[in-house]
Amino acid sequence: MAKNTASQDPENTMTHFDFLKKFRRLSPLEPSLSIIAFFLATLFFVSCFFNLDYFSIGRGFTWNGSSSSANVHVRREFLDEGGDGCDVFDGNWVWDESYPLYQSQNCSFLDNGFRCNENGRPDSFYTKWRWQPKDCNLPRFDAGMMLEKLRNRRIVFVGDSIGRNHWESLLCLLSSVILNKTSIHEVNGSPITKHTGFLVFKFDDFNCTVEYYRSPFLVVQGRPPAGAPEEVKVTLKVDQIDWVSNKWRDADVLVFNSGHWWSYDKTIKVGCYFQEGEEVKMNMSLQSAYRRSLETVIDWIGSNVNMSKTYVLFRTPSAVHFRGGNWNSGGGCHLETLPDLGLLPVSSDIQLEILINMLSEHSNESQVMKLDLLNVTDMTRRRKDGHASVYYLGPDTGPASLHHQDCSHWCLPGVPDSWNVLLYALLHKREFFGR
Ligand SMILES: *[C@@H]1O[C@H](CO)[C@@H](O)[C@H](O)[C@H]1NC(C)=O
Ligand SMILES: *[C@@H]1O[C@H](CO)[C@@H](O)[C@H](O)[C@H]1NC(C)=O
Ligand SMILES: *[C@@H]1O[C@H](CO)[C@@H](O)[C@H](O)[C@H]1NC(C)=O
Ligand SMILES: *[C@@H]1O[C@H](CO)[C@@H](O)[C@H](O)[C@H]1NC(C)=O
Ligand SMILES: *[C@@H]1O[C@H](CO)[C@@H](O)[C@H](O)[C@H]1NC(C)=O
Ligand SMILES: *[C@@H]1O[C@H](CO)[C@@H](O)[C@H](O)[C@H]1NC(C)=O
Ligand SMILES: *[C@@H]1O[C@H](CO)[C@@H](O)[C@H](O)[C@H]1NC(C)=O
Ligand SMILES: *[C@@H]1O[C@H](CO)[C@@H](O)[C@H](O)[C@H]1NC(C)=O
Repeated sequence: MAKNTASQDPENTMTHFDFLKKFRRLSPLEPSLSIIAFFLATLFFVSCFFNLDYFSIGRGFTWNGSSSSANVHVRREFLDEGGDGCDVFDGNWVWDESYPLYQSQNCSFLDNGFRCNENGRPDSFYTKWRWQPKDCNLPRFDAGMMLEKLRNRRIVFVGDSIGRNHWESLLCLLSSVILNKTSIHEVNGSPITKHTGFLVFKFDDFNCTVEYYRSPFLVVQGRPPAGAPEEVKVTLKVDQIDWVSNKWRDADVLVFNSGHWWSYDKTIKVGCYFQEGEEVKMNMSLQSAYRRSLETVIDWIGSNVNMSKTYVLFRTPSAVHFRGGNWNSGGGCHLETLPDLGLLPVSSDIQLEILINMLSEHSNESQVMKLDLLNVTDMTRRRKDGHASVYYLGPDTGPASLHHQDCSHWCLPGVPDSWNVLLYALLHKREFFGR
């Protein structure tokens, strides 16, 4: 109820972020003092608004329904009976002293591009936020338990470099409990810095593999057919799944993502057009091409993947936060140190809409009924503080130019760790409740 009132009347609602902005403006304090005060204010607000029920549980109170000032109720455990109705993607970020779940220094499976702390990022608040669903509590990530679940199994991430961000987070989370690090190795001996093709990491003690296949479009990209117009340098065959897909098919867990490459700059502008059958569709829009490619993936899943064996998830688009420009025109995010914990302006993500429309139009197909969304769009919109910004070049190079920031990939440890906490919860659920 409180939520509705607030959203009808945003002007009169002082969000935490507004407050913090004001605080920042007002503070003529010593820098160190203001940092401490800032930190306390953050803690205070986070506790007040999002953790009330924690305190109430701790003190043994029982609240019934909502109070007039805040929607206070006892959260169920996601894994408990009845917890499965909880929308784990609806929630907020809360400060958690026990975070991060690992240190980048202790994880050899990270690209330099994600090692923000080692690359000179001075603040570390961005590592301390845990995702808290509104209506239930997630189980705490237990790497040993996850490895046990993955014993003799394959978990496969397919998509663009944000998928790689996600995958490297999982490698760090899982390897943190393995003492003998040499028992974790890439099956072909490839180094982690290799940016094309695929990487398969095996955990010897569990005979499980954690795999990443780079396939930013999910469909075939190749030479145009003979007789295509001259400006067509390469085509995306939107009706053909990526040829590597035979390696994805038998995975036990299969996590797709795509989106960031379906942009004008990365397609038409560089002479990459869309092809269906033998025909180059010169005026097929980016959006219909994206949609067609997703349909190709869904059809492929329907006819190739055994959904009784393979748990398929689609991760929804991860938010980008370029301010004052775009990724190729000087946009930035390097001054952001706190998440947006208050109301977010309404915004729509066209790629998310396309994905959701496509899935709902195919919702009578059994493979669509059985797959799950990893709906990270909203949770990532709140994390403008979590990107690599200028700290992606490696420890010896120093920060990048302010005009070449990375506000789409995420620092690790950081935001993608929470996607894996959610994935862990969903895997549990699937086993606990069957399907
Ligand atoms: C809690 O609220 C429900 C309805 O919202 C009501 O039926 C129930 O009696 C209440 N329980 C207590 C202990 O107040
Ligand atoms: C994703 O989660 C957000 C936040 O709960 C919600 O508003 C949105 O409807 C969800 N989208 C889908 C497709 O589930
Ligand atoms: C990182 O590794 C060092 C040395 O092995 C260890 O003392 C430390 O506790 C580790 N940190 C974390 C967060 O795992
Ligand atoms: C190891 O896991 C693979 C599947 O990833 C399975 O085919 C193979 O039988 C397993 N090996 C043993 C020794 O269990
Ligand atoms: C560590 O793992 C490697 C590869 O699995 C194995 O050869 C080696 O014996 C292990 N070392 C220890 C101390 O267990
Ligand atoms: C595509 O463009 C051609 C030439 O500009 C036009 O004749 C045709 O009607 C267009 N097709 C569609 C589906 O818009
Ligand atoms: C699909 O997987 C299930 C569970 O592993 C297995 O029992 C079944 O035989 C498989 N079906 C096909 C058609 O391979
Ligand atoms: C799903 O619905 C569409 C039209 O609504 C229909 O053409 C298609 O055959 C249906 N598919 C299944 C598997 O029922």
